[in-house]
Amino acid sequence: MYQKKRILLVVTGGIAAYKTPELVRRLRERSFDVRCILTKAAREFVTPLALSAVSNDKVYENLFDLDDESEMGHIQLSRSADLILVAPATADIMAKAANGLANDLASTTLLATDTPVMMAPAMNVRMWDHPATQQNVKTLIDRGVTMVGPLEGDMACGEYGMGRMTDVSELVEAVCAHFKPTGPLVGKKALVTSGPTHEPIDPVRYIANRSSGKQGHAIAAELAKLGAEVTLVTGPTRQPDPKGVRVVAIESARDMLAACEAALPCDIAVFAAAVADWRVDMEADQKLKKDGSGKIPDLQLTENPDILATISQHKSQRPGLVIGFAAETEHVIDHATQKRARKQCDWILANDVSPTTGTFGGDDNTIHLITPDHYEDWPKSSKIEVAQRLAAKIADHLKED
Ligand code: PMT
Repeated sequence: MYQKKRILLVVTGGIAAYKTPELVRRLRERSFDVRCILTKAAREFVTPLALSAVSNDKVYENLFDLDDESEMGHIQLSRSADLILVAPATADIMAKAANGLANDLASTTLLATDTPVMMAPAMNVRMWDHPATQQNVKTLIDRGVTMVGPLEGDMACGEYGMGRMTDVSELVEAVCAHFKPTGPLVGKKALVTSGPTHEPIDPVRYIANRSSGKQGHAIAAELAKLGAEVTLVTGPTRQPDPKGVRVVAIESARDMLAACEAALPCDIAVFAAAVADWRVDMEADQKLKKDGSGKIPDLQLTENPDILATISQHKSQRPGLVIGFAAETEHVIDHATQKRARKQCDWILANDVSPTTGTFGGDDNTIHLITPDHYEDWPKSSKIEVAQRLAAKIADHLKED
């Protein structure tokens, strides 16, 4: 379940740092990938070698290490994780993070990231109780940092009180809980297509279209946010992979159909991809040559499989709710209504893709939702808002079932 989730463990300099090899080991047992940053002070309590051995990876220590930076720059390090876990989190690192200081690799990483952060504070009870620390904790929580602990108990310094790091097993559970999906679509599987397809002419040329993947990727992201387990089958785009979504990258319509069929069974399928209707019948093995005679290659086209129609009419594994898009440049509603009936999907989202609308490749979209017994005009809005509205509508519809 947690396969491929990447944890960046930032180990700072408290006595509890000696527990981090065990923490790494237990996280890896639960299938997390773990990469470690070790501060200079933490090195006094745990060795890079121990963390490297249990994480099966290099341990990152220095902001200005040319080797580290060339392998994985600190910005990339901070963004390549699904969760940053600071354990133990000293009063010092919390003060730096709360106040935006960035004078070593750990603090720079925390300032440069937009990844969720979890902290397991560990320090002397008086340091924890100090108003400065309490203010920093409040600031961090207000900014969305999750605090796990500290616990009350005997401390390494001989005092008693709040300040012990949460036990390793509870920290592992907190990390697992962080990734547990919540929302109305938990337990539902969704398939989304996005982007253009590339239909090869020869090894270097292809037929394509102007789809950017913005709309399809946004839909995948919003369904995942509502708790669905999403597979996104996408043609070539520049869009980043949406968080928490399984992405299958394909090139041609035939690849897309195969990937969609492999993603069945599912409860929800949304086909936002701009699939090429035709491909070149005989793809050339070698690059087509201009031979100087002025002869133009005779490219015969053949029809591609219709993925939406195939999945809508699937005999044994038709998804419960199949939603298509209709990209039209004239008679938008009429053509989309006919398309829905012809392809036999449940809903179709018609959008005008005439060049003046900027729908293909742009950030906004204007949708007309057509179902067998219902019609809605949605106001022009961003593709993210369209995705949010669609995801909420899907959740409502499945609730009614
Ligand atoms: O990617 P963006 O730049 O964000 O732009 C978004 C979009 C305009 C591409 C999107 O909103 C959209 O309209 N997608 C559908 C594009 C399209 O190919 O429409 P169509 O009317 O030709 O096809 C109708 C439906 O059949 C679509 O759901 C399409 O995915 C599907 N189809 C089409 C052909 C084919 N061979 N197989 C299919 O599955």
